[in-house]
Amino acid sequence: MSVKQPNTIYLEDYQPPAWLISHTKLRFELEEEQTLVRAQLSIQSNPAARDKRMPLELFGDEGMELCRLSIDGQILEACDYQREAGYLRINNVPDTFVLECVTRLLPHENTTLEGLYKSDGMFCTQCEAEGFRRITFFPDRPDVMSVFSTTLVADKCLYPVLLSNGNPVDSGEDDDGRHWVTWDDPWPKPSYLFALVAGDLALLEDSFTTLSGREVALRIYAERKDLDKLDYAMQSLKNAMRWDEEVYGREYDLDIYMIVAVDFFNMGAMENKGLNIFNTSCVLAHPLTTTDQGFQRVEAVVAHEYFHNWSGNRVTCRDWFQLSLKEGFTVFRDAEFSADMNSRTVKRIEDVTLLRTAQFAEDSSPMAHPVRPESYMEISNFYTLTVYEKGAEVVRMLHTLLGAELFRQGSDLYFERHDGQAVTTDDFVAAMETVSGRDLTQFKRWYSQAGTPRLQVSDQYDARACEYRLTVRQSCPPSPGQDHKQPYHLPLALGLVAEDGTELYAGLLELTGEEQEFCFDNIKQCPVPSLLRGFSAPVKLEYDYSDAQLLMLLRHDTDGFNRWDAGQRLSIRLLQEQMQRYRDGQPMVCSEALIEAWRQLLNDTALDPAMLAQCLRLPSEAQLSELAEQIDVAAIHAAREFMRTSLAAALEQEWLQAYQRCDTNELYAPDADAVGRRSLKNLALAYLVATEREPWLALARQQYQQSDNMTDQLAAFALVAHSDDRETAEELLQAFYQQWQHESLVMNQWLSVQASDPRDGALERVVALAQHPVFDMRNPNKLRALIGAFCGQNAQHFHAEDGSGYAWLAGWILQLDQQNPQIAARLLTPLTRWKRYDPVRAGQMQVQLQRMMDTTELSADVYEVVSKSLM
Ligand code: TRP
Ligand code: ZN
Repeated sequence: MSVKQPNTIYLEDYQPPAWLISHTKLRFELEEEQTLVRAQLSIQSNPAARDKRMPLELFGDEGMELCRLSIDGQILEACDYQREAGYLRINNVPDTFVLECVTRLLPHENTTLEGLYKSDGMFCTQCEAEGFRRITFFPDRPDVMSVFSTTLVADKCLYPVLLSNGNPVDSGEDDDGRHWVTWDDPWPKPSYLFALVAGDLALLEDSFTTLSGREVALRIYAERKDLDKLDYAMQSLKNAMRWDEEVYGREYDLDIYMIVAVDFFNMGAMENKGLNIFNTSCVLAHPLTTTDQGFQRVEAVVAHEYFHNWSGNRVTCRDWFQLSLKEGFTVFRDAEFSADMNSRTVKRIEDVTLLRTAQFAEDSSPMAHPVRPESYMEISNFYTLTVYEKGAEVVRMLHTLLGAELFRQGSDLYFERHDGQAVTTDDFVAAMETVSGRDLTQFKRWYSQAGTPRLQVSDQYDARACEYRLTVRQSCPPSPGQDHKQPYHLPLALGLVAEDGTELYAGLLELTGEEQEFCFDNIKQCPVPSLLRGFSAPVKLEYDYSDAQLLMLLRHDTDGFNRWDAGQRLSIRLLQEQMQRYRDGQPMVCSEALIEAWRQLLNDTALDPAMLAQCLRLPSEAQLSELAEQIDVAAIHAAREFMRTSLAAALEQEWLQAYQRCDTNELYAPDADAVGRRSLKNLALAYLVATEREPWLALARQQYQQSDNMTDQLAAFALVAHSDDRETAEELLQAFYQQWQHESLVMNQWLSVQASDPRDGALERVVALAQHPVFDMRNPNKLRALIGAFCGQNAQHFHAEDGSGYAWLAGWILQLDQQNPQIAARLLTPLTRWKRYDPVRAGQMQVQLQRMMDTTELSADVYEVVSKSLM
């Protein structure tokens, strides 16, 4: 940890590994006070390595105790090897040999949640990206692939279930109450996909028959109390397996597929070969405890990790700069899966909203980086929205440019060419080039250039010639280390719509130049362009729409995404006008045209409730912040609250009707239609409560009491908890706690609702909650629920002008950095945006960054983020 200036690793320095490991045999003696790991590595020099006769260099964490080291049975003395800062070096080794190494670990003291650690009494591992080097000495890099055989030995009562990758091939019992199981994974894999689990776990079992008729055992493990929350994950897994066969022609390749739910986990889930390990928040689902959003997350993450079996495991990354090769492609795959299982348009709206708020913000921050970064200090800091979400958009653009059929041929070729290999994003694009015969050289700038491109579109209509011309200019702002950007190759899906709503043209344009003109003949009336349909490229689009044109597109566009987007553009413009009025001290006004447009939407009972709910949601404060030249926290909040309450009051009857229309007595199901009805119902309830009229808070309270599912209960709970009726609010906060105190995931919601409460005294409330027994600073889910929610969803208070919110966060980060550097670095994100704020706030944020910088014992994780932010 005490590295003051961690090394920077560069993509251009990549060298093939000097040594390969054909087999890795592991034996874990799991005990309460320690774990002994015996590793036998069958090592050969790599014929493809540039330098021959290199010393053997293995990665190994400093905290790991080396007990014994031998080569071909010969014990090595201390003078035969060197151990220094994360390495073990052995000179003069033969060409082929077996290295045996015994290390001693202290999993119960491992709070980093990397390597081998304990979560609620069970042993588990997290090896991606560089956690395996905390277990034993190893060439812990993804281009070294090895066949693993793993034996676990542990107390039979405490740890009846012993799991690792592949198939169980042998097991037995010792006299001392201990038992053992040996697992063989036939597929060579990089060390980051290694996993083990040992614990007293309950199991839901099912099976799946692959297209070729093989039967696969499906097992989902969790703590016994959560056994009733595994059905949805199991159904999602089976759906994902079928979908990957049908859409990508990919079958599963082992006889067993296991998922284990753990409560202490840094991220969402991990695709370890045959043995996925999941954050409980991404696998447990039950109507009474899980919201609709939670159900959809479980479905998406289960699918995501399953899809990695091909896009990540069978074909893996050559080095960590290629992370988006597996993550971007797999996010694209899981997004398409979710779109097929639910509503395609709604899924697209949700994903684009995330991209526009969070990824665009990252792209304009000091941590901005290309989808394929060029350098890093700590790779854990690059599991980002850019690598995942923008990476998925890049794959989506390839899909759009080639069309579904060629894209499938390209993915087939990619899997066929590179099965069993560790490859690069260039290899992925090369397969798409081969099948399409296209040159994608320019397209690859999407991988190498950071920043969000800007498209400026203007047009001209010649009525006599029936000619319509579009001029598109592209540019991309500078980002760290990249002052000048080259133009991108991108698909621009577009429609031309007549004033009365008829579609005159629909098609796909390809942009390659800095400025390009497109001419459309035979256009008999002046059209309104529906640009970037389906968000065909991850760019900021500028076109000077009139309010009337946006209202027309909102009513008539045949592209559902652009219908929604037209409404968003209009709302954003109106909100920005009110922000200006607020700053100028003028009264704000709510547009009658907007009210009438919303009234029409609300009265249109033929509209899909899910779509309607999306259209009637104002852009979030986070998104308005991303769009602002300089973020004015107070103006954004005031303008949005003004619009929200105005629309609430003006359409009170309509909200009530929508509420009643969607308040059916159906049995809970998390399908797209029911989810859509609940989202409209709860949105309508929120607007009703926003009128601050008496009956509606009572309605919320009634819904809270009568609901049979967490979606409705939590929505009502949050409205009451944030209301000014403190008596009722306190009563429900207590009742909710009493009801759910033993459900850890529900308690996260309880914390988040309070952390995002916008009323005065918010900081004092979160300070007090951090002392509450349900809070546990070692559990990342709890940290996200309290600290993450306060800093991300309570801008008013986090950005208090006196800097108190910033100081509180910095205090936490310094404390957490000692314990879990990955989480500390992630929670730091809001402070990295300091340049976007007014001088007073920017100064306060800088003070806290500098305070961290001046701390001597920073992890590489936090050091990288803080130092880059101050640059
Ligand atoms: N590969 C995981 C995914 O599917 C990401 C992940 C899980 C991870 N745990 C991690 C990354 C810990 C870094 C550290 O997206
Ligand atoms: Zn992933």
